[in-house]
Amino acid sequence: MAEKKTLTQLGQLEGKTVIIRAGLNVPVDQDGVILDDYRIQKFLPTLHYLVEQEAKIIVVSHIGRAQTDSLAPVAQYIQKHIPVSFKENFFADNSTIENNCNDLHTELEQAQSGSVFLLDNIRQTELEKENSEILGQQLGDLADVYVNEAFSVSHRSHTSLVSIPKFTKTSVTGMLCHEEIDQLSLALHVNKNAVAIIGGNKFATKLPLISQFLNKYSQVVVAGALANTLYSLSGYEIGTSVYESDLDSETQEALLDVLAHKNLYLPAIVVTVDAAKQTKTKHISEVLSTDAIVDIAPEGLIDLEKDLAEADFIVWNGPLGYYEGGYTQGTNRMLELIALNTFATSLVGGGNTVDAVRDADREQDMTFLSTGGGAMIEFLTHGTLPALDVLD
Ligand code: 3PG
Repeated sequence: MAEKKTLTQLGQLEGKTVIIRAGLNVPVDQDGVILDDYRIQKFLPTLHYLVEQEAKIIVVSHIGRAQTDSLAPVAQYIQKHIPVSFKENFFADNSTIENNCNDLHTELEQAQSGSVFLLDNIRQTELEKENSEILGQQLGDLADVYVNEAFSVSHRSHTSLVSIPKFTKTSVTGMLCHEEIDQLSLALHVNKNAVAIIGGNKFATKLPLISQFLNKYSQVVVAGALANTLYSLSGYEIGTSVYESDLDSETQEALLDVLAHKNLYLPAIVVTVDAAKQTKTKHISEVLSTDAIVDIAPEGLIDLEKDLAEADFIVWNGPLGYYEGGYTQGTNRMLELIALNTFATSLVGGGNTVDAVRDADREQDMTFLSTGGGAMIEFLTHGTLPALDVLD
């Protein structure tokens, strides 16, 4: 990917209108309480920077999966740090979006430099996912500069990521997005002593990356539900474990190649839970039809310890077990092993994986935590993302 221009490289922004696509998709409970503010915390420095630059700022983001989900709790959170005018339900009714944009245009003209306008969840309109040029132009026409500060969504070809920047004079990465690109690009060109760890589920998105890693990295650890699928393909009993049973023949063949690769590290000691909720540490050959594999046991990582200690580069996406269900041993042991290696560059991403790092208070032991989950996987696979390709 060609080098992208970034926000700090732009000249004076005083009085200019900046539209910034942020990644403020944070978990919120039924009472509107934000359960994890990591992404907002990571966004605030960029917002502060724009305010200090005396730009007029429009913030656009999505949140949640339901069309009724609102950024109101996020607006309240930001309000504690920076005054913000929240435009509730801005996109809720397609027939009023144009008017809302016109009203915002008038407000922007009268607004003082440093004013911040947060538009409600852009996925309240289906036009967002349709990558609508009409909506892209309505929003782009409001601003002089477009900033992508939503690396975590940059694998989506949506209006706010791909169409708006077509209609502003300038389109750049934000500081955080810039850092994501810089750091994750390191994983594309590694020396021999590199370890990749891929957990979680769904080979559909992860198999191309695993295949690439096997040819570049000295060890590629496959864990989580992905490992269960590989155990099953190897002929092991996996009982009631979560795995992918409906693989097409092409994927099956590719997975057999993965299994045969000398650089694959498939842990052989796992944690199981039975119908009585009893957990046990077992060799994979001892799993019963009534067991579910829920984690990699710390003992399953013993043969990897030397490689992890000697690695100069480690990249990790996806927990080793069912972390959010409380099966955390494998993931936490992996964190300890990475922390013991003080000279390696270590990049960690994916929601649950970053949660694990933060739960264990090990942020300072990792070189970089990516805000991307799927976006990180796609960036590592293709070396770019659709929403980055469109920037200056
Ligand atoms: C995110 O915000 O984490 C990503 O965009 C994933 O959300 P999505 O799958 O709803 O796009």
